[in-house]
Order: sequence, then structure tokens, then C-alpha cells
Amino acid sequence: MNGWRELIRVENVVKRFGTTIAADHVSLSIGEGEFFALLGPSGCGKTTLLRMLAGFETPDSGAILLDGKDLTNVKPWKRPVNMMFQSYALFPHMTVYDNIAYGLRQEGLAAAEIERRVRQVLELIGLPELAKRKPGNLSGGQRQRVALARAIVKQPRVLLLDEPLAALDRKLRVEMRLELKRLQNEVGIAFVFVTHDQEEALSMADRAAVMRSGKIMQVGTPEELYNTPANLYVAQFIGEANVFAGRLQNSQGEWRLVTNANAYRVPSTEVQRSGLTNGEDAAVVVRPERMVIEPCEGEQDSAPLNRVFGRLLEIAYLGNARNFVVETDDGQRLSIQTPATELAPPVCVGESVCVGWKVESGILVSASENGGGKADEQA
Ligand SMILES: Nc1ncnc2c1ncn2[C@@H]1O[C@H](COP(=O)(O)OP(=O)(O)OP(=O)(O)O)[C@@H](O)[C@H]1O
Ligand SMILES: [Mg+2]
Repeated sequence: MNGWRELIRVENVVKRFGTTIAADHVSLSIGEGEFFALLGPSGCGKTTLLRMLAGFETPDSGAILLDGKDLTNVKPWKRPVNMMFQSYALFPHMTVYDNIAYGLRQEGLAAAEIERRVRQVLELIGLPELAKRKPGNLSGGQRQRVALARAIVKQPRVLLLDEPLAALDRKLRVEMRLELKRLQNEVGIAFVFVTHDQEEALSMADRAAVMRSGKIMQVGTPEELYNTPANLYVAQFIGEANVFAGRLQNSQGEWRLVTNANAYRVPSTEVQRSGLTNGEDAAVVVRPERMVIEPCEGEQDSAPLNRVFGRLLEIAYLGNARNFVVETDDGQRLSIQTPATELAPPVCVGESVCVGWKVESGILVSASENGGGKADEQA
């Protein structure tokens, strides 16, 4: 990111509700104008973290800073932060124009200034002709845009969005992703965006935090999360993952992952990156598009591959790719994806096949799901 400058800093924040720990020593930084996603399964603490940023909840301990200033005692309405809720409640009896103008009128701005700013955001969301409509006469996507306009018209430094696309159907959701991204770019406000849909997070975010049980598992760009996951949890949460679990072993300078059935070579760069050492429980993760599938007999590629044998269960043609499901001899399901622009591999459902991957395509992670952390506290 060019010229990244810290806007928000969350420092070691803890928040409990009775015995539930919704934020477990959360620390992270969000940059000015950054599109930041909070990603994680239901109940992991995403909304709670947003509500603390907005000032609707107070951390039990830790601090939240904006521009280096502690926000702890700053009331929600005094923060340069605005929140768009999971259900974006527009006032049904007011027109689109009045819904958007509402917050500015509360501030007591001059009528001409209100008019100018409302027209400007109506332009921005592409709905200037709908100013006189009531929310009840809008489509879901239009209501969504109006709610967004209402949130940005006050020009906050940060906009918090809690699952803003959840109420829309799939097609509209995908369209709105681009729309949101464009809008965020134009207004230059930092967006903190909550979703449990990883595809949504990855397609829009500059960076994302992957959460689990109140803890931050990893913060990174979409590429970092996908290619260099910090642990098995992140590897499995982001994208599809074929996982081989075993023990890391070094013999004569070569690293291997030894499983019950096999031994797979592991790139030494991955051993360094993961910080794992000889004898530790570990897992190798291979993305489906990094795997190849071939008939068992026949010429095998001369590239240094790790190989595993199994039976082909299923082929699915997806238009842009082919998906293969293989059950290995020790009962593990693998997913292999090849581009549809390539010749289909000469394999048939029901036959024995050989699945391989280049040694350097293996991602090494700690086998402990928490990446060395404590066990799930909510379990
Ligand atoms: N006011 C509250 N009182 C008691 N428990 C709460 C309260 N708010 C949240 N929790 C609990 O804290 C945990 C985190 O909740 P939170 O709403 O932050 O999750 P989330 O990640 O937003 O989930 P979802 O994806 O379902 O919206 C959950 O176990 C939830 O039940
Ligand atoms: Mg939530």
C-alpha cells in the first residue's frame, strides 16, 4: 500500500459477556482510507469489535486509538466514525432525500450546504432521480445504496459496515461488491467491513483480519492470507485446502512431512517461514489449482513432484475449470482443479489415478488449529 498511514489502532482489547470472550486480546491497525475486512465464522466477535470501534460497547481492558488519541471516553456521536447496521433501518415515512439529509439537519448545517452534500452523494450512488421516493418503493439494492449514502454524507473518517450485503440476493451482492469498492475509492473514507463470506472479503479488501473465538488469527492482504497462511485454521478458512497432516522430519538436509502412509518433500523456505522445527506436528496444505492428476501408469512428469495415489470419484466441469475429487488409498478426499483451457487429463471416474504437486507448491503450517494458541474457549 502506498503511503499507508495508521488511522485506528486497537491495542490488546478484551471484551467478555459473562463467560463468553468476544474479544480476546485483539490488536490491529487500520490505515487511513483503507478497505479493511473482518472475517470469521458466526459468533467469533466481528460485530462486537465494530461496536467497540463505534463506541456502543466499552472494552473491559485495552485501548482503541484514532490518530493516536484514546477514544475510550469519547461518546459514540462524538467519534468521527459512522456505522451501517446489519439491517439498515431507513425512515420509511421520509423520502430518500430526507433520509440522507437527516443527519446533516441534526447537525444544524445551513440549508444550502445540506442540499449540496445530499445532491453530491446521490450522484455518487447513482440515484439522483430517486430523491423523492420513499424507501418502501425502492429495490433491495437501491435501499442499500441509500443507507450507504446516509452513512457517508456526514463525512466520517471511518465507516463501519456490518454484513452490508447480507440481505441482497447473490447476483446483486456480487454487483454491489464492485460498487462499494468504487465508492470507497472515491470518498477515501476507511471502511471496516464485516462479513463471514471469505470470497466477499478477499474480492474487496486491501487487508483482512481472520478471527476465531474472539482472537485474531492473522492480518494480511488477500494474497498473504491465501499463499502464506499463519496456521491451519487460516489455510482452511481462506479458499479450498488439501491438507496432509504428519510430523516434520529432517534427514540429511532434506525436509519431509511424514504421514501414516507417506512422506512428502517440503520446501526448506516453508520450514523457515513457518518457524517449525524437526519432529514437530505439522501439515502441508496444497491448493486445488496447484495439483495435477494423471493416470497411474503412463509417463510421469519429470518435475520433482510429491505423489499420492487414489481413485477418481468425480469430475465437474465448471466452465472455466475442471474439478476432480479423488479419494486417496488411505481414505482422504482431495480436490484438484485444472483450467478448462488446458486439455482434460486422460482420467475416468472410478479409475486409479495419481495426484501430484510440485514440492514448492506445498504450504507448511503448524498442525495445531489455533496456530499454537490455546484451545477454543467457547467450545
Ligand atoms: N450483548 C451481549 N450479551 C451477551 N453475549 C453477547 C452479546 N453480544 C455478543 N455476545 C456474544 O459474543 C460473541 C461474539 O458475538 P458477535 O455478535 O460479535 O459475533 P459475530 O462474529 O458478529 O457473529 P455473526 O457472524 O453471527 O454476526 C457471541 O458468542 C455472542 O453470543
Ligand atoms: Mg455479527
